[in-house]
Amino acid sequence: MNKIVRTWKLNGEQRTVEFPPMRRLLDVLRDNLSLKGTKEGCSEGECGACTVLLNGKPVTSCLIAAGQVPDGAELMTVEGLEHTEGGRLLQHQYIEKGAAQCGFCIPGMLMASYAYLAGADDVDLREAAMREAHAGNICRCTGYEKNYGSRERRRRTMAERRETRKNRTTGPR
Ligand code: FES
Ligand code: FES
Repeated sequence: MNKIVRTWKLNGEQRTVEFPPMRRLLDVLRDNLSLKGTKEGCSEGECGACTVLLNGKPVTSCLIAAGQVPDGAELMTVEGLEHTEGGRLLQHQYIEKGAAQCGFCIPGMLMASYAYLAGADDVDLREAAMREAHAGNICRCTGYEKNYGSRERRRRTMAERRETRKNRTTGPR
């Protein structure tokens, strides 16, 4: 059988992978690339457990054929969070707030949160906006409130750090 070969920027590294046609992105990540952090829940695009970032946008990897992801695409899985300051902080806040119960939804939640919060101090943190941004992520343990608190804390801490760096650069005024 013909195989497809793709080279992606995956969690900040160039990775080349070969897989059969129509293999789902979820399976290529978990099985071909041994990135087991991404979870499979419903397999139908409904639960968000399999969420990864494709060129910075959250996608459900159970619904995407890996062959649809072109060479040069940027992919980020939950394993990639530790390589970014915002990702490490987000994970830390989830732990500190006790946001994970069984933990199954957490990789997908984290990726949706990371995409939503990435790089912005002024994202809309009103509860309705936050809920909408995570509408595709279902938590069977109903840990939504603690997840919300984690994201808010992460956003505030990143803003404070940025402010501190800016003041160091510009000096006292
Ligand atoms: S496993 Fe992909 S959305 Fe549920
Ligand atoms: S923590 Fe159990 S499904 Fe969300």
